[in-house]
Amino acid sequence: MTHVTQEKWSSGMAFLLAAIGSAVGLGNIYRFPYIVGQNGGGAFVLLYLGVVLFFGIPLIMTELTIGRRRQLPPIAAYGALAEGMKSRPFWKLIGFTNIMTPIGILGFYFVIAGWTLNYVYSMITGQLSNLVEGQTQTVFAEMMNSPVTLIFWMTLAVLITAFIISRGIKAGLEKAVNVLMPMLFFILVLLVIYSLFNGGIVETFKFMFYPDFSKITGETVLEATGQAFFSLSLGSATMMVYGSYLPKNESIPKLACGVAFADTFVALIAGFAVFPIIFTNGLDLDSGPNLVFVTLPVIFDQMPFGQVFGILFFMLLAFAAITSTISLFEPTVSTLEEKGICSRPVASLFAGIGLWCLAGLSALSMNVLSDVRLLTFTETVAGKNIMDLLEYMSANAMMLFNTLFAGIFIGWMMNRKDVLEEIGLGDSLLFKFWLTIIRFVVPVVVGYLIYAFFAGKLSS
Ligand code: PFF
Repeated sequence: MTHVTQEKWSSGMAFLLAAIGSAVGLGNIYRFPYIVGQNGGGAFVLLYLGVVLFFGIPLIMTELTIGRRRQLPPIAAYGALAEGMKSRPFWKLIGFTNIMTPIGILGFYFVIAGWTLNYVYSMITGQLSNLVEGQTQTVFAEMMNSPVTLIFWMTLAVLITAFIISRGIKAGLEKAVNVLMPMLFFILVLLVIYSLFNGGIVETFKFMFYPDFSKITGETVLEATGQAFFSLSLGSATMMVYGSYLPKNESIPKLACGVAFADTFVALIAGFAVFPIIFTNGLDLDSGPNLVFVTLPVIFDQMPFGQVFGILFFMLLAFAAITSTISLFEPTVSTLEEKGICSRPVASLFAGIGLWCLAGLSALSMNVLSDVRLLTFTETVAGKNIMDLLEYMSANAMMLFNTLFAGIFIGWMMNRKDVLEEIGLGDSLLFKFWLTIIRFVVPVVVGYLIYAFFAGKLSS
């Protein structure tokens, strides 16, 4: 039952910008470069591209279809599409797990979005100038150890996001991405040019595109898949909800390709912004999560115009983070609004307060609550503090679980005629290829990933 007529995107382009905004985030600019660094470069990149092409695009199409068919958020969408099926309650439950996933992701994502805002400020005020390597480590550690700093910046990220969401699709989300996305692309291009001028281009090309297949292990495959799903915003209600606002005359396959292409392009370009700097300065490629917050500030400090480009770099991260947090926040608000529980501004307020509490716990888990363990049922989870646990459960386990069932639903449960009509490819070879991937390949591969994940083969 729909209580509210949902607002729609004003065009396919508006959707595309918002969906790219969702996909392009910390996953591309913060995580992708360091994962490529840790996994040996070219072979990982090649694997990643394969996953995006064969699973990413078909799965974005799947989630957009579930959302747009009845133009409803996940619980109501699954409920409506499963009308008359015995298993309907189960599918509504899947709708519910879809809604819970972005909540879990925001529990840690808001904290990292806060770090990026803090670093923009620190760069502008020169707090990261004249430092040597060990000192940026200290600055980072001091931030982590300070509940007040972490919560202050996280709160700012929550406020900005809730404010944008409260204004609605056209006046809020569209306006925000119309400003933030062009700035994001502009900064990214500037950074790449700057980085290339400082040398290291040949090494970067070699590193990113010369595959050394000996570097590929079972774990690399899992890592590439997890990274691709997270980067494409799959399994987290976002694509379903953004799809539910998509006008019926827009082509789902075309838009899915557009999102996947732009997201992957930005991830690769982020590599070209970061790696040349690392190569020219003879630094370690595999410094992991420290790469952006500890290693880069030292280098910016030593390079010509480093402070300006340092500010731009962290602004880029902050913009990318905010266009993703809005997409993670929207499913909750959309659901509350659709159920007629409260208006959008009130829903944004309540969701904001709830998420602030969750992200607050995450922030505290790096200092005062660092010993607290919420779950201990396996050795892997028992070792994790609240923030790591949220990441582990939502960004990995739940995302995979939701994607698996989205594939099963579209492939095996939903009326073929409805699917055909929504995808709009006719009963063509391309449609059959897509359906085969969704029906057979996705359940086997994603099912195996979930098994591998819980068997402890996927570490983060
Ligand atoms: N794709 C975003 C990133 O790469 O940072 C993260 C994300 C956004 C995941 C939205 C899931 C989602 F629904």
